[in-house]
Amino acid sequence: MKYTIAVIPGDGIGPEVTNQAKKALDAVAEVYDHIFLYKEAQMGSCAIDATGNPLPEKTIEICKNADAILFGAIGDPKYDNDPSLRIRPEQGLLRLRKELDLFSNINPVKAYDQLIKNSPLRREIIKGTDILIFRELTAGIYFGKKETSKDGKSAYDVCSYTVDEISRIAHLAFKASQSRRNKVTLIDKSNVLETSKLWRKTVTEIAKQYKNVELEHMYADNAAMKLILNPKKFDVILTENFIGDIISDEASVISGSIGLLASSSIGEDNALFAPVHGTFPEATGKDIANPLASILSAAMMLEHFGLEEEADAIKRAVEKSLDLNISTQDIKGKNKYPAATSKVGDFISDYILNQEDSNI
Ligand code: IPM
Repeated sequence: MKYTIAVIPGDGIGPEVTNQAKKALDAVAEVYDHIFLYKEAQMGSCAIDATGNPLPEKTIEICKNADAILFGAIGDPKYDNDPSLRIRPEQGLLRLRKELDLFSNINPVKAYDQLIKNSPLRREIIKGTDILIFRELTAGIYFGKKETSKDGKSAYDVCSYTVDEISRIAHLAFKASQSRRNKVTLIDKSNVLETSKLWRKTVTEIAKQYKNVELEHMYADNAAMKLILNPKKFDVILTENFIGDIISDEASVISGSIGLLASSSIGEDNALFAPVHGTFPEATGKDIANPLASILSAAMMLEHFGLEEEADAIKRAVEKSLDLNISTQDIKGKNKYPAATSKVGDFISDYILNQEDSNI
């Protein structure tokens, strides 16, 4: 089969890790006889530098015409210390989500056995953790009216949700839980926020259509605590945009390395796959960043295409690299001869190319 993939390497380590994901995809294409046609596009700080716009129209067009999008990372420290700058790299990603209506951000969080020792949490707390987070991505406070007063002494951000915006992602979460452990935890602040009350009412109503799924309610502050105290209790987490941003990053420490977490952002007509980690400016250009999250994003993309066997080939290669300790410094430690980003990518692609023959 032939697939057109929009590739947005973005900023920081984005280009380096995305290149490794492309290597893995090329290996899959060769073994399974597919054609992946890459269309490269700009977004973020690099796009501002080149065009003045964090999301050039051309990028939107390339993405709209692609079967899926592979994205690296976005942002640059030069924007972080000057809140007065009106154009910021992140606006590119937010607008792309809106333009393509990528309303559901899906974040799997698993504790990899090989990495448990890297997690700041104790082994017995995290072993066996397997969570799927559904974060609403195109509404809420991120997209409400926002303004700073002329005198700079006050500001506001409006948070709003509609029943439709809540329902469409809620259905996805309930359906996903049915092929897992049949439990959905809705995280909100319905003791304080009107939008959260609407979430609770809407999701409770929808739950009646999924009689075999248990719906649990949890306030966000309590959830932040429970996630660290007893992550195994969670199966599917469903939450709104802002809370989801925070909870997803918090959950990422459970895996033992954020360098392994991939996520997808799905809409009716398009889907974007990206690592959970950011631009990692300290590592940029040094060939030391962990490419596995980007490589696993490519695997998620293949699953989205219905290419399960191909996705499994990538996942097996990733597992093997961990078993053999062919890992970057975030996993292996700086003083223990870590592998370079490109070397991990080479190993994964070679393993995919050869595992058919060697049957390992
Ligand atoms: C994420 C990021 C973005 C967000 C930023 C880059 C705008 O943190 O994808 O989770 O807050 O949604």
